[in-house]
This record gives sequence, structure tokens and C-alpha cells, in this order.
Amino acid sequence: MKKYDIKTINLNTKILIYNFDECNKSTKKLIEKAQDIALNSYAPYSNFHVGSAVLLANGKIVTGSNQENAAFPAGICAERTAMAYANSKYPDIPAKAIATVAYQNNEITEEICSPCGVCRQFLLEVESKFNHPLKVIMCSKNNIYEAATVKDLLPLCFDKSNLD
Ligand code: THU
Repeated sequence: MKKYDIKTINLNTKILIYNFDECNKSTKKLIEKAQDIALNSYAPYSNFHVGSAVLLANGKIVTGSNQENAAFPAGICAERTAMAYANSKYPDIPAKAIATVAYQNNEITEEICSPCGVCRQFLLEVESKFNHPLKVIMCSKNNIYEAATVKDLLPLCFDKSNLD
């Protein structure tokens, strides 16, 4: 009889959970910047207003909001708006952290705003090209979730090392 040797692996993701009062000064500032820029979101179709703030290694903070489109797939998330802008303006400066917050009916959402699959892949490219951990900070009304790297949010990912 043929013997099978099927294995499993467990993929572990560590997420820190804390509240706004427990944030350090720099994270607080980053989240506040994400909150501010969410006001500039253009989201007439979903009414889901998202803001992201990217902290760069030179201390600068670059922000962006989601920009929707009548042709839905042409819209862009806040994370990619902010990160594309950061990398365009400061192409040689690694990104250290990105914080994101979403509003519905003028209130921060009860659930954390975690990046969509396309944004995870986009952020992974940034983390890989700079070879520098990129913290992902996801905010909700009461809690903040933090992943130490983008890779933590994309197990078994495909990045530029796969093309070497
Ligand atoms: N959105 C973001 O900008 N970031 C996220 O992390 C989740 C979703 C946007 C896309 C779309 O404009 C709206 O939120 C609803 O999906």
C-alpha cells in the first residue's frame, strides 16, 4: 500500500494590542496624523473614510486618504496613497511604520482598519526593498493592533527574493 507523508505547519502571527493611552508619543502622533488626513478622504460610494500616516526613518510623516472612483477598481486605499507619496517624495528613505484609521458616520470604526490584500502586497514591496521592518498600526475606536512587520500579515508571501 502507498504511504503518504502529509505534513502541516502552523504559521504564527504576533499582534500587539493596546489602547491610545498606552501608546508612545511617536505612535500617538502618527495616529493623530492618520485621523486628520481621513478628513480628506473621497469616499462617496462606501462612506468609509480612511486615513493613513507613514513614519519615515528621517522622522518625516507622509499622509494619504482613500480616493474612490465611479469605476470602483480605479479607487485607491489610504495605505497605498500615503506610501506611494512617501516613496515618490523620499525614494531613499525607509518607511518605519504606517498607521491607519477609518471613520463611518464621523466615528472611528469599532473594528480595526486592517490593510486589504493589495495594500499588504504593496507594503511588502517597501519593506523588502529597504530591508527594514515596517510596523503596521491598525486602529479602531478602542484598540490599536500592531504587527511588527508587513511579513507578519502576509505569511508565505511572494516578494522580490522569489525572483532572485
Ligand atoms: N480602504 C482603505 O483605504 N484602507 C483599508 O485598509 C481598507 C479599505 C478603503 C477602500 C474603499 O475606498 C473603502 O475603504 C471601502 O472599502
